[in-house]
Amino acid sequence: MELNIQRKLQGIPPSIFPIMTGLANQYNAVNLAQGFPGFDADKDLIQLVNHYMLAGKNQYAPMQGVPILRERLCAKMDEQNGYSYAPDSEICITAGATQAIFTVVSAVIKKGDEVIIIDPSFDCYDPVVRFNGGIPIRSALKKVKTLDSNGSQHIIFSYDWKDIQSKVSKKTRMIIINTPQNPTGTVFNKRDIQELRKIVQHSNVIILSDEVYEHIVFDDCSHESIGKYPDLVERSFIVYSLGKTYHTTGWRMGYVFAPKPMMECFMRAHQYQVYAVPTPLQYAIADYTLKKDKYLELSAFFQERRDYFVQCLDGSKFKSISCPGTYFQLLDYSAITKENDVDFAKWLTKTKGVASIPISVFYEDKKQDNLLRFCFAKDLEELEKGAERLLKV
Ligand SMILES: Cc1ncc(COP(=O)(O)O)c(C=O)c1O
Repeated sequence: MELNIQRKLQGIPPSIFPIMTGLANQYNAVNLAQGFPGFDADKDLIQLVNHYMLAGKNQYAPMQGVPILRERLCAKMDEQNGYSYAPDSEICITAGATQAIFTVVSAVIKKGDEVIIIDPSFDCYDPVVRFNGGIPIRSALKKVKTLDSNGSQHIIFSYDWKDIQSKVSKKTRMIIINTPQNPTGTVFNKRDIQELRKIVQHSNVIILSDEVYEHIVFDDCSHESIGKYPDLVERSFIVYSLGKTYHTTGWRMGYVFAPKPMMECFMRAHQYQVYAVPTPLQYAIADYTLKKDKYLELSAFFQERRDYFVQCLDGSKFKSISCPGTYFQLLDYSAITKENDVDFAKWLTKTKGVASIPISVFYEDKKQDNLLRFCFAKDLEELEKGAERLLKV
């Protein structure tokens, strides 16, 4: 019997991440492609998980997450951004930020609703919108030249608010923002908040704010959370990743905040998608969240790695783009070749032994910027090895 199964995500190519990681393994390359830390989680955190497993915390957690974790994450949000969400009705613990994003979109987006996505964009936004019958409307960041305090010229990516405004229509139901942004590292500033406010005020547009890299900002930048702005909070889902913050991406833990009526809507979908996430991990993270230095030291920790990687590349033909946040460094290779970035990234992995991610995959129109993304959440030796190989190109 032949089953006539119609793929729901017809036409969407497989993710580039397993492709590049597969090549990296095959060619024994330094893998700076996928965005996971090259170092282990803190032993204290692992011991806490063991502790709670042995203490019998092994059955279903409440749907929204264990109360102590919800309380502590609400307190953390309040302390950082001055907004006090209710732990019993305005937060949910999720299976990573990925599930939170999927559940937000599936709870809110109906067939024909338009969702504004800003390119180059993290690769799950577009498929999730399509999966739920929505229409992704893409707006691209623009490249801008700036001068630093030493007078050196840099390229940065910045929001094109005029273009975003022009894409808003009667059908716009949601705008997805991501700050600090993967893959460009762009960080929202106060002007961006003002522009976003102008676009959404007097409208029905909901904001999905992906803030998974909230603790990874560099130089004199600071993280502008939507949580600092009560008029935006009232129309926003704000998503975080415990995997990104505690070097535990494999545990699949994240959380989402929203005002009560929006969270009720979220919970209906969450209930039937995952019901609840692992209980002992939630108790362990609740305790660990009290160690504030663990997340407050992240920016300095990753800035050291970013600076080291860029410094090791001094004298190479790759040109680095300013990276004010996240753990990704973009390198421009236009002085080397005009080849498209997917082919060049594959060639670099196979013949030079360094795996990266080509940026065109994050654009709707596969725009060629001659840029590759390198993850610097790795040991210094690994970064040095990768940079030495890039110097030879
Ligand atoms: C911008 C962005 N959002 C969400 C996620 C997913 O986070 P999680 O691993 O918690 O699902 C990632 C992971 O790379 C990301 O870069």
